[in-house]
Amino acid sequence: MTAVTAPWWREGVVHEVYVRSFSDGTGDGVGDLPGLRARLPYLRDLGVDAIWVTPFYPSADHDAGYDVIDHRAVDPRLGTLDDLDAVVADAHALGLRVMVDLVLNHVSSEHPWFRAAAEAGPGSAERARFHVRPGRDGGALPPTGWPSIFGGSAWEPFGDGEWYLHLFDVHQPDLNHDHPDVRADAERTLRFWLDRGVDGVRFDAAGGLTKDPAYPELPDGWQPGHASPYSDLDGVHDHYRRFAKVLSEYDGDRVGVAEVWGEPHVIGPYVRPDELQQAFAIDPLFRPLDATLWRRLLAEQLDAVVRHGRLPAWAHGNHDVKRAATRWGEDGARAVLLLMLALPGCVYLYAGDELALPEVDLPDEAITDPTYRRSGGTDRGRDGARVPLPWTTGPAPYGFAPDGTPTWLPQPDGWGTHAVERQEADPDSMLALTRRAIRLRDELWRGAGDEVTWLESLPAGWLGFRRGAATCVTRFGAGPDPDLGGLGEVLLTGGASDGSATWWLRGDRPGTTTDEEAGWDRR
Ligand code: GLC
Repeated sequence: MTAVTAPWWREGVVHEVYVRSFSDGTGDGVGDLPGLRARLPYLRDLGVDAIWVTPFYPSADHDAGYDVIDHRAVDPRLGTLDDLDAVVADAHALGLRVMVDLVLNHVSSEHPWFRAAAEAGPGSAERARFHVRPGRDGGALPPTGWPSIFGGSAWEPFGDGEWYLHLFDVHQPDLNHDHPDVRADAERTLRFWLDRGVDGVRFDAAGGLTKDPAYPELPDGWQPGHASPYSDLDGVHDHYRRFAKVLSEYDGDRVGVAEVWGEPHVIGPYVRPDELQQAFAIDPLFRPLDATLWRRLLAEQLDAVVRHGRLPAWAHGNHDVKRAATRWGEDGARAVLLLMLALPGCVYLYAGDELALPEVDLPDEAITDPTYRRSGGTDRGRDGARVPLPWTTGPAPYGFAPDGTPTWLPQPDGWGTHAVERQEADPDSMLALTRRAIRLRDELWRGAGDEVTWLESLPAGWLGFRRGAATCVTRFGAGPDPDLGGLGEVLLTGGASDGSATWWLRGDRPGTTTDEEAGWDRR
């Protein structure tokens, strides 16, 4: 495929707009659709192809919008359907695509279906839309020992002998996708947003839609991350085949991306030719910056999807993990961004990571994430990566909301040092680097195919590859700068001279990659 004919998403850059923390247009301290609409030119200037907008549906806010009361409406606190249409229209006029986040695995406990199920009683038709089982020991104990991903048991009693499954918070009952009502509703939701002109869909908690109907106990020694009776089962792929068919009925290059957290062999099947276009490559986010390890991880991620004719969807960060600048250090966040942008595939960049925002250690009383409560406070949760963005140097709320407005998560003192306003004026800022890199990527890497030729003779701690007519070299951690002259002309560097860094070079000069010729000082 060439850059001319490839769909935009194949090697695009997608910016994850965490809508509650992006920009507040209405003055209640919570980001919203009018706020996002007003900032679309910023996203155009960033150079991204598309935005993925996190859930803006009516929600009881037990999981920051991922507990949905109505999948085909807009939460009045975040705007209206007209506002959403206006975001899509304005984005399209600016050359940006819009992806929405569909939370199909579960609903809010305030969703009309669940309210009806709670009232209807044991064995009722209303409960058949959920995963409901009798408790053990006459109803006193949960049906299985399955843990919730947010901590504690994944089962909650109705109080009448039956229990319902919630892989996430107790306010997020899992839907039973074997039920015809549930299937029909999911498809209706998908069509509803595609009909409104959105360009793609993120399928939240994608691996959870099918559960083993025998509800077996977890094997002894089971750990989070191991195979389970409620994630990535063979049957789950039937759902993505159906959703992919729906996507293919629409014109334009619509994209579906599966939010899956598994290792490459788990995510590969989601992008088979009759399934989705993408599945996140999230695994590297949890890995230390080690050249040998990353070489293997990247090669495995590529192999898992290229065999199906797809390219990876690299996640540089997201709203569920620590901020990249804290996870990897700012030098590492810069180096990895350039590395990911040079690889074959699409890159998902989390809003605020282009500013190198650090993780914020919030005061206990400010934390809203259910993982904090459910873990008994041992896990401080994900809110530290969700603090509203600083647009101006100050004072608080730093241009995020009208002056004097308290924000839904408090911004720390000094937040303005990371402000967009300041970084736009600084050619060495993370924002300036991100803008330059995204533009240069189009010229150097986009359309360069799925082949990566690894440079085999780099010193320990280095990783590099050639693609097309360019070379990308990353140093993981501090070390001497080698003479890169043998590899080509340096066009861009991201990182730190005393830390991790990535270099982009023009020229593939085969035969110049031995240690001697490239001037490497092998350590
Ligand atoms: C996904 C979302 C996460 C949410 C969970 C439950 O993992 O990214 O934020 O808590 O699904 O919907």
